[in-house]
Amino acid sequence: MKNPFLLAILIVTSHCLDFNESEFFKSKCGKFTLLRILITKERMYIFLDASCIFYGDLNSTTIGSFPSSCTTICARLGIDNNCDLSKNQLMLVFQNMKHLIGSLILYRTKFTSAKFLRTLESVECGLADFTISYNPKMEEIGMTNLTTIKCSLIDIHGNEELKKLNIPNLNYASPSAENLEANKTGIEINIDSEKYGFCITSVEMYNFINIENVNLKKLGGGICEPGIQPSSGKLCNASHNVDEETEIQDGCTQMFGKVVINPKNVQNVQKLSSVEIIFGVLYIENTNLTTIDFLQNLKYISALGYGYPAITVQNNPYLSNFSFPNLKRIKNNGESSVVFTNNTQEFILDPKYCSFFEDQLGQGGWEKPKFDGNSCYTLIQEANTRPPYKFAKNLDLIIVVLFMSIAQIL
Ligand SMILES: *[C@@H]1O[C@H](CO)[C@@H](O)[C@H](O)[C@H]1NC(C)=O
Ligand SMILES: *[C@@H]1O[C@H](CO)[C@@H](O)[C@H](O)[C@H]1NC(C)=O
Ligand SMILES: *[C@@H]1O[C@H](CO)[C@@H](O)[C@H](O)[C@H]1NC(C)=O
Ligand SMILES: *[C@@H]1O[C@H](CO)[C@@H](O)[C@H](O)[C@H]1NC(C)=O
Ligand SMILES: *[C@@H]1O[C@H](CO)[C@@H](O)[C@H](O)[C@H]1NC(C)=O
Ligand SMILES: *[C@@H]1O[C@H](CO)[C@@H](O)[C@H](O)[C@H]1NC(C)=O
Ligand SMILES: *[C@@H]1O[C@H](CO)[C@@H](O)[C@H](O)[C@H]1NC(C)=O
Repeated sequence: MKNPFLLAILIVTSHCLDFNESEFFKSKCGKFTLLRILITKERMYIFLDASCIFYGDLNSTTIGSFPSSCTTICARLGIDNNCDLSKNQLMLVFQNMKHLIGSLILYRTKFTSAKFLRTLESVECGLADFTISYNPKMEEIGMTNLTTIKCSLIDIHGNEELKKLNIPNLNYASPSAENLEANKTGIEINIDSEKYGFCITSVEMYNFINIENVNLKKLGGGICEPGIQPSSGKLCNASHNVDEETEIQDGCTQMFGKVVINPKNVQNVQKLSSVEIIFGVLYIENTNLTTIDFLQNLKYISALGYGYPAITVQNNPYLSNFSFPNLKRIKNNGESSVVFTNNTQEFILDPKYCSFFEDQLGQGGWEKPKFDGNSCYTLIQEANTRPPYKFAKNLDLIIVVLFMSIAQIL
């Protein structure tokens, strides 16, 4: 796309006309805010500011009118390559800003980070989105106090030098005000960088994948090594290689690496019941397991950066069932997502096993599950052409057939 910024503006102006951004700003920032109280011998002075709203471009001409004393500011804050302010000027002008209501767009700026926004704790979007794109020198975002983004799109892309995010506290996102009004609950996160070695930390990834209704549509790079201990729970290292069984420890909530289960450690799998997230892959082979029911608390698998499917289950001759009651999301890039090969025929005969993964867990851009090389679609087609008595769920068909036969006898 030649000029995504223009496009963004076009989209903004052609948006749902029911949403009135200036009313939104007034409702959020129109109230008087207390600046300070000065008590002298004769009088008490109360300084109030009614206007924490800023319209227009921020540059050296307009900087004086930026409401920099407010902690909550309403503005569609766009900083681009035309902005003639230095990072120190920006740092000063934003030094009190904790909450930005409107949107944040950093586009083609000259800055190496967005640390001038390090006091910012939340961004709440009206019409436009949260976008940090095509900043040719930006190496990290560095908004370390940011916890909340209420914007339907979080877009960090095209920043050629971006090595890391450094937004470790961003753990809550919800749709923008406009979309909430229209009952659009989805949130899309697109983050990438062309920079070799770009990575997202395990803490950041956990925060993202744990957001309700999130679609991690595009997520480049891998997870930075080593994994970081979470503030609650315990991160444990798994294996480097799929032919080396994982040493299964007690009480791990996060696993980093390839979780390999084979005949050498299969007797310990019950200890995996505390695991909530795998930053890596799950790899089960050659076991005598009859069911996979020991990952009761597993919610997420992030296979980013691994050249393996998120789940591989192969050559388990007795395996005929699984249960992942809490699994909500699998994110991988490029590779097939879930591969079951050479276990019992149960998985092939009943397409519900395949469909479980396909219907509930996919994230944008993922490859579909494969069961003995078949897609779920193929398994469903085959199941439908097989005689109906194989499946309980075709019971109604059996009844119809019975009914027809009875009708014929009569
Ligand atoms: C600052 O922005 C305003 C409004 O877009 C514009 O009129 C003015 O020329 C700009 N000043 C500079 C120094 O770029
Ligand atoms: C970030 O937040 C913490 C805790 O609220 C605060 O102590 C710290 O000063 C903030 N840092 C910046 C740069 O605003
Ligand atoms: C949004 O959902 C609420 C409750 O479900 C409903 O009353 C309202 O009409 C919906 N609004 C739109 C714009 O669909
Ligand atoms: C995991 O392994 C890395 C080295 O690959 C090491 O630096 C880190 O401390 C280990 N973490 C734990 C929790 O054992
Ligand atoms: C699996 O079970 C079979 C028969 O029950 C047995 O022969 C085989 O040794 C077992 N394999 C492992 C790895 O425990
Ligand atoms: C299928 O699994 C069985 C038992 O684990 C194994 O002996 C056989 O070699 C496997 N077949 C293939 C094609 O991998
Ligand atoms: C498969 O496992 C689930 C959960 O443990 C269980 O409810 C179900 O009955 C099992 N299915 C079969 C066919 O054994």
